[in-house]
Amino acid sequence: MAGVPAVARSVDWWEMLRAPDFLAHPYPEIHRLREPARVHFDPVSGVFFVLGHREFSLLARSSDLGRDTRLWTNSWSTPENRERDPVGYALFSEFQPQMTNANPPDHRRMRAVYEAAFRPAYLARFGSSIEEECRRVLDTIPVACPFDFMTAFAKVLPGRVSLRMFGLPDEIESDLARWVEALSLIGNIFVTPKQKADAHQALREFKLFLRGHLKQAEDDGFLAMARASLAEGIMDEEESLNNLVTLIAGGTATQTLLGNGLVTLLRHPDQLQTLRTKPSLMEGAVEEMLRYEPGGSFILRVAIRDVELDGMRIPAGAMVLGLMAAINRDPGVFPDPDSFNIRRFPNPQLVFGAGPHICIGKEVVRMTGRIAFTMLLARFPQIALAGEPVWWVHRSDQHGLDKLPVQMN
Ligand code: HEM
Repeated sequence: MAGVPAVARSVDWWEMLRAPDFLAHPYPEIHRLREPARVHFDPVSGVFFVLGHREFSLLARSSDLGRDTRLWTNSWSTPENRERDPVGYALFSEFQPQMTNANPPDHRRMRAVYEAAFRPAYLARFGSSIEEECRRVLDTIPVACPFDFMTAFAKVLPGRVSLRMFGLPDEIESDLARWVEALSLIGNIFVTPKQKADAHQALREFKLFLRGHLKQAEDDGFLAMARASLAEGIMDEEESLNNLVTLIAGGTATQTLLGNGLVTLLRHPDQLQTLRTKPSLMEGAVEEMLRYEPGGSFILRVAIRDVELDGMRIPAGAMVLGLMAAINRDPGVFPDPDSFNIRRFPNPQLVFGAGPHICIGKEVVRMTGRIAFTMLLARFPQIALAGEPVWWVHRSDQHGLDKLPVQMN
């Protein structure tokens, strides 16, 4: 392709992105790949891989690119793919109408409904209930014997935070976990037909529940907003329900911050000790945890029209994937990028993306992270690894832990 920087050696991107060693520790390989070119074009799939912070910032903010995957030349919605993969087509077309997948002007119309409620000033009202939920989960943690932090804490707390924020009943906790698990897998690169069918079933059940709950809930927060937007005709019912599903399900991604953050602190005892003695560093520490082991692996855009970047042409209909392991450790922006430094400043890490689609829930993540790590360190003067952490190998789109054996005293 004209104008694309030469790449020193060919890379099988799709093999690399799902290799267990890469999923656990992508940084050495990603540094090697960034050296010859900060944007790579994969002729096999027609995808542009972005490894540079500056390049990704520009592309993610550009109005020439969006998130509507139907514009991708190899989209799930092409007539050939529709025929080849009817299960995927049914799932993705039902889940399509929502802000995450929309380009302007629909994106703005939908996002504006929720935006004010995700600002720190509004979210502050949930601080005490997040603390309360955190205390409840901490009370269940076994003291002075090894346990899996992911099962006992990191996977539980974010679901509870979603229940409180959206005014949902505790009785749906296990159904919610099941729906979210099934749905979360469809963001992966490789999704099996069974995973797609399970996700579609979960989506139907989740929406059925929300449809009934929206009618009777007393909640004056997020659900009231969804109801008002329906009543005022800002969104139709499908848009409203799909957005709520993503907002509620998105919350569970916070588990990656809790797990990745704790393992990083435990592997950097000097930084952990500094944080213990200076709790005022917590805000910067959470930001550095998000940078150092980012919970998301890539962020997508699809070119709406031809784009020029540094003399390189990205044609309309091309898919662009920003690789977070590369972007958050770009040495041009982060001095000494492989060192974990809770005092790092400035820290323009991009795990939440950038531009109009920047993660709407990012302040929920930060607030939950600050509360969780503050309470964890205050309650347990000693926290140690009790075995080898196990990184996810079943998905390439997110970078998180399956198991984190620890002991706390
Ligand atoms: C560590 C946790 C999380 C990570 C790493 C994360 C990451 C992201 C990323 C990378 C995007 C796309 C940004 C872009 O395209 O530029 C995104 C969008 C989004 N996130 Fe998150 N997220 C997290 C937690 C949450 C939470 C807690 C919620 C809800 C409470 C949430 C709801 C959403 C929604 C609705 C969007 C779509 C926004 C739009 O398209 O306008 N996320 N997130």
